[in-house]
Amino acid sequence: MDSLASACGKSFLCGEHAVVYGVPALAVPLPDLRAEAQVKSIIGPCRIMAPDLDLDLQVNPHDPDPHPLVTTVLSALGHFEQPLPDATITVSSQIPIGRGLGSGSAISAAIFRALAGFYGLEPAKAEELAFIHQIDTIYHGRPSGIDGAVVSHERALRFVRGEKPVFLDLPTGWSLLIADSGISSPTHLMVNGLRERYDQAPHRYDLLMTAIGALSRQVEIALKTDAMRIVGRLLNRNQALLNELGVSTPRIEELAQTARDAGALGAKLSGAGGGGVVIALTQGQPEQNQEILAAWQAKGVERSWSVDY
Ligand code: MEV
Repeated sequence: MDSLASACGKSFLCGEHAVVYGVPALAVPLPDLRAEAQVKSIIGPCRIMAPDLDLDLQVNPHDPDPHPLVTTVLSALGHFEQPLPDATITVSSQIPIGRGLGSGSAISAAIFRALAGFYGLEPAKAEELAFIHQIDTIYHGRPSGIDGAVVSHERALRFVRGEKPVFLDLPTGWSLLIADSGISSPTHLMVNGLRERYDQAPHRYDLLMTAIGALSRQVEIALKTDAMRIVGRLLNRNQALLNELGVSTPRIEELAQTARDAGALGAKLSGAGGGGVVIALTQGQPEQNQEILAAWQAKGVERSWSVDY
């Protein structure tokens, strides 16, 4: 049966990097930024098309160096115990790649869901999560698992590595604005770099991680009480600690400060840092959002997004 499925992106609110060290982190889905996969029966060999990436690949299970999309499709077929289908699998995504917005997890989830639909299967959530984690592990080393959890459940959550996520009910009437720094920085390099610094001064870094964990708890309480101004201030503090961890850059600091100066309640990097994206929390007023987006544009930001909650 021809099948179409999608999955959302995600953004951290608080706790990236520290989450790798067992500290709680908070993340939210980006319902308007989605990856999509479509499986259509055709006569002929199985192909994967990704028009956004100018890709048209014939799936060869014996390729010694397969494209990540081929690996993902073959892994999903293996999971469902299905041979190569006579089908075209078309993948597209509105989530920028390599910016810490969960694009890899969302593409895996969309492919998994679309192939399940093609075979008329309804896999359990735990299977989907395990699949996303398996693929993320190939491409990111030892991911904390937070991307997969948010993308798969499409819910805001508090995440502690190795534990079941706790879902959060978000208040409404606020926005998250996202600026692309224009710099892609591979997650595993940022995580490994921090690990090296940590190993040289574990006590110092443990203190910073603990402080970030405390911020995550405070953000959660502030969200429960709809205290968005406080959330904004806590995000600013999280950014200061991320800077101390050594994962911020002058460009990230500049874009975060630009957003605050233009009226954001708070701003910080989201994801691995070193580039990637900067997020800004606002009270959701369209004129205010426009002002911040325009200020970013004036600083050379070429791509930005606005997500309303
Ligand atoms: C990367 O998007 C987020 C990190 O916390 C790594 C992870 O959670 O796996 C840096």
